[in-house]
Amino acid sequence: MVVLISGTGSNMSALMEAAKDPAYGAEIVAVGTDREGTRGIQVAEAAGVPTFVVPFRAFAERSEWDAAMSDRIAEYTPDLVVSAGFMRILGPAVVGRHQAVNIHPALLPSFPGAHAVRDALAHGVRVTGTTIHFLDEGIDSGPIIDQVAVPVEDGDDEAGLHERIKVVERRMLVDTVGRLAREGWTIDGRHVRFGRTDTKEIR
Ligand code: GRF
Repeated sequence: MVVLISGTGSNMSALMEAAKDPAYGAEIVAVGTDREGTRGIQVAEAAGVPTFVVPFRAFAERSEWDAAMSDRIAEYTPDLVVSAGFMRILGPAVVGRHQAVNIHPALLPSFPGAHAVRDALAHGVRVTGTTIHFLDEGIDSGPIIDQVAVPVEDGDDEAGLHERIKVVERRMLVDTVGRLAREGWTIDGRHVRFGRTDTKEIR
C-alpha cells in the first residue's frame, strides 16, 4: 500500500507497526504527502520507507496536482492507497486509477469535510466516532467499510475528543486494512464485503 498523510502520521505509524508482522498481509511501499516538512514523513524516512512530496501549492490547477499525485503513486504500483490523515480531496486522476480508502473522524454521512470533530461538537451530538470508507469522487462520500462509535463526554473540547477518536481510529484502520489485504473485497453499490473476487483482489 501507499499511505498518504498531511501531518503527524499517527495512523501511518500504527500501520507501519502492524506491517512488521508478515502475517499482517500488507506492507507499506511508500508514504506520500501534499506538503513539505510533515512529522509523519520524518518518521517514515527514519524507518527507511520511501517517501514522496507533491506540494499542492506548486501547481496552478487542482487537476494538475491531482494528476501528478496519481503518477507518483503509480510508480509504486500499490494494490491499495490508504489516505490516513491526508487533508486534501483526491480527484478523478487518483480515484479513477487507484483503489483507495480514507479514514474520517466522524460517523459518516454525518459531518463530512475538514472539521468533522468541531462540527459534531457544535451540533451537540452525544455519539460520534470514526469511519473507514472507499474513496469516490465526492467528499467523504464513498462506500463505508467500517465504523466505530465514540461517546461525547460533557465538557469535551475538540482536541480532547479528537484524541479519543484517534485511539479507536488507529485500531479500526489497522484491523480493516489487514482484512482487506488478507481477504480481498467486493464493492456492490454502497455495500462493501470482505472476500476475494476476480476483479477486486489485492495480489
Ligand atoms: C485523523 O483523525 C484522521 O481521521 C483525520 O486526521 C487525523 C490524522 O491524524 N483526517 P494522524 O496524522 O494520523 O495522527
